[in-house]
Amino acid sequence: MRLPGLLCVAMLDITIAYKVLEVYPQSRLVRITCEAPKLPQPITYSLLASRGILVAKKVVHNSSPALFNINITLKSSPDLLTYFCQAASNSITYGPSTRLQMYWELWTKPVSQLQANFTLQDGDLGPTVELSCLASSGSPPITYRLIGNDGRVYAQQKPLHGQPASFSLPLTRMSGWFRCQAENRVGVQNSPRTLLPPAQLLLTLTGELSLMRTVVTAGSLISIASIGSGMLGWTRL
Ligand SMILES: *[C@@H]1O[C@H](CO)[C@@H](O)[C@H](O)[C@H]1NC(C)=O
Ligand SMILES: *[C@@H]1O[C@H](CO)[C@@H](O)[C@H](O)[C@H]1NC(C)=O
Repeated sequence: MRLPGLLCVAMLDITIAYKVLEVYPQSRLVRITCEAPKLPQPITYSLLASRGILVAKKVVHNSSPALFNINITLKSSPDLLTYFCQAASNSITYGPSTRLQMYWELWTKPVSQLQANFTLQDGDLGPTVELSCLASSGSPPITYRLIGNDGRVYAQQKPLHGQPASFSLPLTRMSGWFRCQAENRVGVQNSPRTLLPPAQLLLTLTGELSLMRTVVTAGSLISIASIGSGMLGWTRL
């Protein structure tokens, strides 16, 4: 069944997104991406600030998005940090895109909704737990730490804005309670603590090794996904 109305709307879709490229003490270098993949080329993209002020224009001759690098200083008012895109093709202007509001994103967003996934993997060097941590938002960029029960920091990562941190815990060398901590200047969150090695694995390690082999290699992955609930359920992937 054809849905011409929906197709038409999809064709005119202009997306706007951004990424923090560099963090300076008093400013942020931000890349704003405007994209209207369905429009005939060449496409003239305009980046506009809140009240329709033209910030920059770019002509794109292929299907790539238009990239605008902007240096945003701390002095900028929130108003000036609202952006949207328009795209012109064959003398017709499309858009505007949805509004991108960056002020709070860039300057003062405490860490929120930290998610930590512990995934058991059977590697060449024996069982390893891969810990993946990601907060849904937080700005300035978040530092993630792997912390043991005694408060000891085992590892620390500062991935790119919006990217998860991943830590590898070889079970032959690491055991005890672990948690992931996400921290930026304006906030901190901790995941629930998790006991490693997991009880199920301990049982099989001390008991039937063959059983563990079966369990671990069958899907080669077992994960504790429902970590947020505090109930550690093992899921075979
Ligand atoms: C952005 O501003 C910082 C200083 O706040 C400066 O060091 C940096 O070179 C600027 N980057 C660009 C691309 O203009
Ligand atoms: C954790 O697992 C859930 C469910 O599989 C997934 O949606 C989420 O993206 C994962 N988060 C991280 C930080 O790996």
